[in-house]
Amino acid sequence: MNSKIRVGVIGVGSIADSHLNSYRHNPDAQIVAIFDLNKDRAQAKAETYSIPAVYTDCDELLANPEVEAVSICTWNDSHADLAIKALKAGKHVLVEKPLSQTVEQALKVEQAVKESGKVLQVGFVRRYASTTQVVKQFLDAGELGHIYYAKASSLRRLGNPGGWFSDKERSGGGPLIDLGVHFIDLCWYLMGRPKVKTVSGNIYHKLGNRSHITNLSYYKSSDYGKKNDVEDLASALIRFDNGASLLVDVSFTLHAKKDEVSVKLFGDKGGVEMEPELTMVTEKHQTILNVHPQMDQLKFHAATAFQNEIDHFISCCQSGDKPLSSVEDGVEMMKIICAIYESADKGTEISF
Ligand SMILES: NC(=O)c1ccc[n+]([C@@H]2O[C@H](COP(=O)([O-])OP(=O)(O)OC[C@H]3O[C@@H](n4cnc5c(N)ncnc54)[C@H](O)[C@@H]3O)[C@@H](O)[C@H]2O)c1
Repeated sequence: MNSKIRVGVIGVGSIADSHLNSYRHNPDAQIVAIFDLNKDRAQAKAETYSIPAVYTDCDELLANPEVEAVSICTWNDSHADLAIKALKAGKHVLVEKPLSQTVEQALKVEQAVKESGKVLQVGFVRRYASTTQVVKQFLDAGELGHIYYAKASSLRRLGNPGGWFSDKERSGGGPLIDLGVHFIDLCWYLMGRPKVKTVSGNIYHKLGNRSHITNLSYYKSSDYGKKNDVEDLASALIRFDNGASLLVDVSFTLHAKKDEVSVKLFGDKGGVEMEPELTMVTEKHQTILNVHPQMDQLKFHAATAFQNEIDHFISCCQSGDKPLSSVEDGVEMMKIICAIYESADKGTEISF
């Protein structure tokens, strides 16, 4: 009997490579099938990764009893529907972030997880980074005390990927739902998942996609298109029941001197900078210390984080354990993201 978890991958654009490579390196996983709306892309990926079955219809992939688990790496508009379909077909699901485009859809996925009894993991890959795992250990041991303030920025000067990313119907929004979901989740997770009290947000449509800029290159989506009806910049203040607060700003385009990724958490016994490089801050004998852990990677290392994420998913499929980035947390992130958009739209604070 084959004890490996047999996996199908739905949507095989850019990020699917991180899933496919990680499954390939997991001795308990076997990639058996793929599907993409773009048949040529699916065929090419099947050849690269020696995948036996390439489907032209998602229902056919889900009807294959060989497939026990799926990764969903499609545009955001199909995450919830595909996750529900896969769960109903008896498959475990790893769904890329965001879980859905709306809270209503997210709650339907949560319901489907309950009814199916299957594993659903949300692709909050930053939780699985080695740096995050180390910081979590320090936090759980109480070394930094109560985290009462966190601040995260992911600011791109010229980084609207175009295509589906900048088409609101397919993405659900711009940098907030794309980048913000990662950074809000990371801070919220490290803060101990406190209950949200209020959310206040702003979004701006000022610069567009800046596709006229020359001499500076940037990442473009697999099917690049210039249509752009998503925000350039979003900022938010999230207040929690325990008194803590989180300040976040994210952009696709901005008149900034350089791109910036910064994640900082401040506790009453110590602080930590996750990005741009892991550093903890504490004090001893009336002196402030910057503590630099000795680790292979002090910055977010995507390949390792994806490998850890996929290894965790496969292990949960085998054990039936609830994953670290559960459907409930995916729902909570959608509540926060949607509340930020609602707050920006109404120009008022949203209470939970
Ligand atoms: N975890 C991360 O760090 C990370 C990074 C990038 C993207 N993502 C997420 O991954 C997803 C895909 O992003 P990407 O950068 O790979 O985009 P992409 O455009 O490179 O690839 C998406 C692929 O999905 C296919 N597709 C879309 N809808 C489909 C459907 N209903 N059925 C089958 N195939 C479908 C497209 O044809 C395309 O090949 C997005 O949800 C994005 O938010 C996550």
